Amino acid sequence: MKKIQHVSSFKGTLRVPGDKSISHRAVMFSSMAKGTTQIRGFLPGADCLSTISAFRRLGIEIEQSGDRVQVQGKGWYGLTEPSEILDIGNSGTTIRLMMGILATQPFHTVLLGDESIARRPMGRVAGPLRQMGARIDGRGEGNFAPIAIRGGNLKGIEYHSPVASAQVKSAILLAGLQAAGITTLYEPELSRDHTERMLSSFQVEVNSFAGGVNVTGGQELISPGEIEVPGDISSAAFILAAAAIVPGSYVVIEHVGVNPSRTGILDVLLAMGADLRLQNERVVNGEPVADIEIKYTPLHGITIEGEIIPRLIDEVPIIAVIATQAEGTTIVKDAAELKVKETNRIDTVVGELRKLGASIDPTEDGMVIEGPSMLQGAVCDSHGDHRIGMATAIAGLVAKGETAILNPGSIDVSFPGFFEKLAGLSL
Ligand code: S3P
Repeated sequence: MKKIQHVSSFKGTLRVPGDKSISHRAVMFSSMAKGTTQIRGFLPGADCLSTISAFRRLGIEIEQSGDRVQVQGKGWYGLTEPSEILDIGNSGTTIRLMMGILATQPFHTVLLGDESIARRPMGRVAGPLRQMGARIDGRGEGNFAPIAIRGGNLKGIEYHSPVASAQVKSAILLAGLQAAGITTLYEPELSRDHTERMLSSFQVEVNSFAGGVNVTGGQELISPGEIEVPGDISSAAFILAAAAIVPGSYVVIEHVGVNPSRTGILDVLLAMGADLRLQNERVVNGEPVADIEIKYTPLHGITIEGEIIPRLIDEVPIIAVIATQAEGTTIVKDAAELKVKETNRIDTVVGELRKLGASIDPTEDGMVIEGPSMLQGAVCDSHGDHRIGMATAIAGLVAKGETAILNPGSIDVSFPGFFEKLAGLSL
């Protein structure tokens, strides 16, 4: 259990751990490439460590120490059939992207995860991969882990994904790299495009166009030698939120990834009236990076819907916390995907924030929050979901009295050192 006290303000300059999406891809693509890759700024959180351990079991030599990783890639067909089941823990990105890679491999693999993974839909990836020719099975008609895969001999497809999901897109593109002909993926809105950007830095030709992306099969990945991972905007979001709702705060977060497919949280904060700006904008390994400066100022409620949703889907729990402190109504729509995240985040966000006295109601595809409300310390639970743990902790900073977070260990999935960073900024 972790206890959080009300703070009077937040001040300082800091960095947040490496981007989770980019860290996964850096290890995966380096493992599948020819050559040695040095990764700096890697996120040593539980999810990305699951990716490292899975590739080690597939025969890839990987050394990791803190945020430094060295991967000895052996080329696309350098993997060996694992003798054991691969346990990917809590990581949806690991299991789904690996399904795409393993669909190309002429051997048998079984992927397993924790209780949360066992509830999350895998059919959205298994379905199109089967259409490409992979043999994939699992519980519930092949929709749930454990997932068994025997790959190889794929053919390119045209796939219209019903959801804007980077995990679906990435799995299909990765399989498409070793499929006969062209593989094209259409998505209803643009999901995060780290796969496309990083594949380009591994000398793969990826064609992005309005509404979709395609790759031609038979391409090799060539290591760029070094990859630098920027700070995770999804982790920075919790610190930005703290500064946005605790009066008198002023914080600078350095070296944060500001890929436009991820910056919905910045657009929302600005639309709510936040005093926020980007400095030192630059491009590192094809990914935009900047320092983000934020100063407390009163906020107002807004409606969040449509194409912005995939650009902030992981930030909805913390946006709900911000909305409890903003004047007026905040509405989140078109976000039914929240139901299939690490927890059903419509239920867990509403349930936990109500314990603190927030005025928040669930809807079919989002939530409605009335602000501002004076939150009251309570006992909250992360439900094993890192972002719920961090969102309730930030709410606890503005609540009267003490807030306790049960199961805070889950926060290590994406933000090891979270509480220490908060303590370093609290006055
Ligand atoms: C991720 C994609 C998103 C996101 C997840 C990471 C990725 O999931 O929620 O935290 O790295 O590709 P979906 O693809 O399910 O939207």
